[in-house]
Parts: sequence; structure tokens; C-alpha cells
Amino acid sequence: MQKVVIHSPGGYDKLCLEQHPAPEMKDDSVRVKIAFAGINYADITVRWGIYESAKKFIGWPITPGFEFSGVVLESTNDQFQAGDEVFGITLFGGYSSEIVVPAHQLYKKPNSLSFSEAAAFPAVFMTAYHALFQNIVVRPGMKVMIHSAAGGVGSSLVQLCKQAKLDVTGVVGRSDKVAIVKELGADHVIDKQTQDLWQQARSICPEGFDIILDANGVETLGDSYKNLRPTGKLVCYGFHTMLPKQGGKINWLKLAINFLKTPRFSPLKMTTDNKSVVTFNLSFLFDRMDLLGEAMQAMLPMLERQEIKVAKVTEYLASDVGKAHADLESGKTVGKLVLKF
Ligand SMILES: NC(=O)c1ccc[n+]([C@@H]2O[C@H](COP(=O)([O-])OP(=O)(O)OC[C@H]3O[C@@H](n4cnc5c(N)ncnc54)[C@H](OP(=O)(O)O)[C@@H]3O)[C@@H](O)[C@H]2O)c1
Repeated sequence: MQKVVIHSPGGYDKLCLEQHPAPEMKDDSVRVKIAFAGINYADITVRWGIYESAKKFIGWPITPGFEFSGVVLESTNDQFQAGDEVFGITLFGGYSSEIVVPAHQLYKKPNSLSFSEAAAFPAVFMTAYHALFQNIVVRPGMKVMIHSAAGGVGSSLVQLCKQAKLDVTGVVGRSDKVAIVKELGADHVIDKQTQDLWQQARSICPEGFDIILDANGVETLGDSYKNLRPTGKLVCYGFHTMLPKQGGKINWLKLAINFLKTPRFSPLKMTTDNKSVVTFNLSFLFDRMDLLGEAMQAMLPMLERQEIKVAKVTEYLASDVGKAHADLESGKTVGKLVLKF
């Protein structure tokens, strides 16, 4: 079998497509021949050696990848049989042509989804679902701001918010993303390339937002908090603006400065402001399959009814994994990127 292996942290040249023996079968597990593996922004930070759960649970060498789709080769669990079309999640190891995973991390692929769409679905939609419905209370009519709204998680958040009847303001970094976010159902879109983000935000929602979903980190976190109304929730789930957009290498000085500039929130001030900061990282929640499974069980019918859809998917050959990382790193992509095995 083939897999992408990173032996030490660094640039795109660290992503090595290698031949390895097939993984051994285990109890209550399923062997899947992978068709596509989903690519997530976190995979880039795994390659850089700064992703905490990768360091904690795997170390080096590591094969990135949280999600995949494919066909069952063999199963020691009654619910799956050879030939079943499936998709699933994994705590790393997804960038492979074959994988063995516990049966509870696997789902039957809906007929309405292609294999590439199925590989693109779980991580971003589970993140969006967990952020909105397992961390905070949402009520119809609430005003929500979603940063990076055309991206993988962002496009999932826009759709889930509209399903919950929220008023959505999507924020994008490039004008060519505006139409995509409108098409996903956003009520307002702020284009940071041509507009002043916070001036626009105040004109759309002068009283402040009920919820702001922010994975930018240092660039917007402070202003996101300021632009909440009392009772507002800032959901902080990533920090990508402290990282480079090109070249594939970390600028450690910039990273250290941005780390120091990242706002710290005081519980004393949050209490009198009546505002809260909520954070999470799903890769540390793989032992909470009650939550992750609940998210998937809630979303699969929505997917079948086409109330939500996988946003635009761009396919790359496994041998072009470096190009895929460079593209996602650039901040220019929309929707999801997947690797074909
Ligand atoms: N906590 C969790 O459990 C969890 C789970 C999944 C993902 N995440 C986080 O969610 C965020 C989105 O992940 P994703 O996989 O869906 O990626 P993505 O949103 O498809 O791509 C990242 C987007 O972030 C924006 N961006 C701003 N500054 C950037 C920079 N310096 N480098 C790269 N992108 C930059 C760009 O959009 P605009 O310019 O349009 O803003 C870019 O398109 C990431 O921060 C990721 O780590 C967290």
C-alpha cells in the first residue's frame, strides 16, 4: 500500500509518498481501500511539527489525515461487509491507500455523495456542528459572524447556521469568494480585500453579534470579542493568521510575536461584559465518540435531504500532495481539497 509519510518537520519536500506493508487487522475493525483522503488546514501544521495532538499521540514519522472514503476490503464487525462503500474519520493516517479503523469511526456512504465528496465531509462538518450545537445555545434569528466563510469549516458553518435559521454574515479574504458564500446562503458577505471588515460589521449589526466563529487567531480575535453584544459568544477554534501563506516554511520570529500578540481573555472582564470565549480542538476528542457520533447522526439525514452539501471539492493526485498543501496554505482555496489514492 501507499501512504504519505512525514519523517521530520518542514516544507513540502517532507511529504514522501512511500510503499509500506498493509496495516494489520484488529478486533471490531474494518479494512478500507481508500479512494480519497480529505485534506485539512491542520495537516499543514502537522507537517510543520506544531500540531499538539500529532506530537502527543504519534510523534515522527507521521502520516497526516483525519478523514477518508473508500470500499471495505474486510471487516471483523457485523455492520460492515466487503464491498460496502464507506467514509470515516481517523486520528491521523488518512493519507493512505489502505487503512484499518475501529468500526465506530466508519459510516455507510450515502448514494448522493461521490467518493471525493464523502472524504471531504466529516472533519469540517463535525467541527462546525460541534462548534454550534455542542458548545453553545443557538436560537433562531441570532446574528452570527463567520470568518473564512468560503473555506472548509467556514462553508459548513454557513450552511448549518442557515439550517438553524440564524442571520449569517460571512467574511472572506478575497473578492472571488464572495459569490460562493452568498450561494451557500449567507445573508451578508464582507470582502476584506475591498472593504473595512469592522466598519462593515458595525453597519450590518450595530448592536453586536450573538456569535462570532473565528479561526483566524491574532488578526481578528480581539476585534471579534469587541463586536459581540452582551450575552455574545466568541467561538475560537484555530489560529491560522499567525502562520505563513507561502513558501511552506514557518517564520519562527513572526510566530513568536503573533503568539505574544494573541489576546488573553480575563474571566473577570468577561463576567462584567456578559461575553464568553469558547474553544475546542476535535483531535483531542476522539475518545468522545458519543459527541462525534451524535454530530454525524444528526447531519447524515440533512445530507440525504440535500439541506446541506459538501462545498466545492478540488481533487489532487496523492503524488501532488505538496501542491495541495501549498494551495491550502495560500489562503486562496475555497471549499475542500482531497487526495486521490
Ligand atoms: N479546533 C478544531 O477542532 C478544528 C477542526 C477543524 C479545523 N480547525 C481550524 O479551522 C480553520 C479552517 O480549517 P480548514 O481546513 O477548513 O481551512 P480553510 O478554511 O479551507 O482554509 C483556511 C482559510 O483561512 C484563511 N486564512 C487567513 N489567514 C491565513 C493564513 N495565514 N494561512 C492560511 N489561511 C489563512 C483563508 O481564508 P480567508 O482569507 O477567506 O479568511 C483560507 O482560505 C483552521 O484554522 C483549522 O486549523 C479547527
